[in-house]
Amino acid sequence: MTTPSPAGNLSFFKDLHPPQSHFREDVLNGLSKARKSIPPKHFYDARGSALFDDITGTEDYYVSRTELSILDTIADEIAAKAGSGAVVIEPGSGSSVKIDKLLSALDHPAAYIALDISKEHLIAACEDLAKRFDGLEVGAVCADFTQPVALDDLPIPQGKRLVFFPGSTIGNFEPGGAKALLETFHGWLRPGDALLIGADRVKSAEILENAYDDALGVTAAFNLNLLTRINRELNGTLDVDAFKHCATWNADLARVEMHLVAKRGTQFSVSGQDFQMKAGETIHTENSHKFTIPRFTALAASADLDVKQDWSDARGYFTLYWLERA
Ligand code: AVJ
Repeated sequence: MTTPSPAGNLSFFKDLHPPQSHFREDVLNGLSKARKSIPPKHFYDARGSALFDDITGTEDYYVSRTELSILDTIADEIAAKAGSGAVVIEPGSGSSVKIDKLLSALDHPAAYIALDISKEHLIAACEDLAKRFDGLEVGAVCADFTQPVALDDLPIPQGKRLVFFPGSTIGNFEPGGAKALLETFHGWLRPGDALLIGADRVKSAEILENAYDDALGVTAAFNLNLLTRINRELNGTLDVDAFKHCATWNADLARVEMHLVAKRGTQFSVSGQDFQMKAGETIHTENSHKFTIPRFTALAASADLDVKQDWSDARGYFTLYWLERA
């Protein structure tokens, strides 16, 4: 059922009741594997979210800053392409700086619709946005867009749809998942609608590894905070000092991998379950895939999407793509 917003300044709120992934389950599962891994979505507790904001301010992490500079440069062009009265749809309500830039650039956008798995985060972000953009219709959909989500039966206003997926978040998915995600977005588009998506480019290993292991140690703290979170929330006994942050460029798979490496043999328990790790063994915590323009174009094509236009910064570090149904 679609209900009015709890706080009243949203046009609609729809809860699709996405199954929540449970921190404990994911951690115990991941630590039980031969090659230990924990999904990156669990970085973002309060401290992790604050550390991520700090990462975007470091000299070494060029990603957010570069994407924003491209958005600034192309704002008028995007506005012209989107036309008047566009309906902006954002899967994963993320950075308010980016969405504010886009909405401010557009000519009288008709509505903003956000989808997010976290109901609290979603409603807070949408209510804030509705306050900043007085008179804009704002709708919120609680859903997990990494699973197929149809937008049918939602009270989405008429108008050209512009799906906005910045941040190179697409890079956090394995190739199969990235294709599936683009297929979901494809399903939201009708002829003439568009997907504006940001993807980080392949570049030298040095620049990439520095971006994910910044000189100030903020990314290291962000990665290691996952262990602190496990200790606090899952009754863990991990010795955080027994681990170090490691970021490596995997050229074969075109991705930066983040790991937590055991500096020495270590044992610990989580939720009463015992684990041990040898020196050098790792917990794999994140992949950030990087794309050449031809590789991204091929990925889009695999989901029946055409690159109609793309824009990069002068250094060629990052690219924003305008995709439409093929
Ligand atoms: C926000 C997921 C796109 O992969 O670049 C930044 C997260 N991890 N530094 C990325 C991140 C380490 C970021 N994403």
